[in-house]
Amino acid sequence: MSQDQVSRDRGSTLVSGIGELVTNDPSLGAGVLGVVPDGAVVVADGRVAWVGAASAAPDADRRIDLGGRAVLPGFVDSHSHLVFAGDRAGEFEARMSGTPYDGGGIASTVQATREASDDDLRARLRTLVAEMRAQGTTTVEIKSGYGLTVEQEARALRLAGEVTVETTFLGAHVVPPEYAGRTEDYLALVTGPMLAACAPYARWIDVFCEPASPHAFDGAASRAVLEAGRDAGLGLRVHANQLSAGPGVQLAVELGAASADHCTHLSPADVDALTGGATVVTLLPGVEFSTRSPYPDARRLLDAGVTVALASDCNPGSCFTSSIPFCIALAVREMGMTPAEAAWAATAGGAAALRRTDIGHLGVGARADLLVLDAPSHRHLAYRPGIPLARPLVLPPASAPRRIGT
Ligand code: NIG
Ligand code: FE
Repeated sequence: MSQDQVSRDRGSTLVSGIGELVTNDPSLGAGVLGVVPDGAVVVADGRVAWVGAASAAPDADRRIDLGGRAVLPGFVDSHSHLVFAGDRAGEFEARMSGTPYDGGGIASTVQATREASDDDLRARLRTLVAEMRAQGTTTVEIKSGYGLTVEQEARALRLAGEVTVETTFLGAHVVPPEYAGRTEDYLALVTGPMLAACAPYARWIDVFCEPASPHAFDGAASRAVLEAGRDAGLGLRVHANQLSAGPGVQLAVELGAASADHCTHLSPADVDALTGGATVVTLLPGVEFSTRSPYPDARRLLDAGVTVALASDCNPGSCFTSSIPFCIALAVREMGMTPAEAAWAATAGGAAALRRTDIGHLGVGARADLLVLDAPSHRHLAYRPGIPLARPLVLPPASAPRRIGT
């Protein structure tokens, strides 16, 4: 539910008939999910005005009965790359026959993206956002990173800003072909004129810190990018430890990044550094599925007390899915997460990774981003893989949202 849509929708609405209400607020209900059986929510002015047991619900201007369905906070997809043109289905096919992923295919998306018109990129972006929304995602973070020139990166962020406030400058995705063998020169561009042109359109900066990839950036280069972004007022995120146990996690923790993403290969020292810290680990199991790689060990992180988020990483290369329910099913089946932990990670975890307190839960005052399941419980997200159970709750009158996650 977008803020614009709700605020046009005057008056209060009582949503009842909620068989299982996941609030993510332990003061409101059972467990870490704050589950209220037979719950109700009152929405007014785009916010949660009241939440609790249906038997105690106040009256409202309008009523909706969900017939026993489960309601959760909308999914918060805190990691995606949606501004691109072209297609890499051939690369995927080769991977399924054993070709490893090393980020080299990013260059072909860069070429296709540079050649695309604004309207083409906008149409593709909006199609993907609509695809996400139809599956229950109500907030999405979107990175640049397929332009890799000053103008192209700024364009990508301008377009991303049309559909979300959670925009991330990823000029340091890979070294583009015209800078081959001149990484230092490209870094000077990224941390200088490109950052200056992109910072007005970005909330975050990110870097593909991966010494194991010949295309990405080592620890020193990643540090330079992140420090420059921080000095420009951007929050920090890191593609860390995706292909090897490199320096990304330690850097993210040291610099106070909001999130270290991927974290597929972690040393004991990495887990120690993350424990008790403010850096969320965002796991992206669609990547391991789509690159035929070993999954990260979520259990190890959760048992150490690390805050874990789940996100899609939707992009044309390493993972072309926009489905958070699919990622939840993978996290439960392959990564040792319970259904409750996975539901929390895809909602409250995503909000924590974006340092947002107004989303990811359904306490009073939260944004009225409600997700309905055509099922009685959050468990069905993993129990019924591949079934389109999740959708956003649209309060009447329904109208197309302009932004997702405003
Ligand atoms: O998060 N690893 C770096 N970036 C993306 C993949 C981008 C691509 O392959 O096009 C990721 O996996
Ligand atoms: Fe990514």
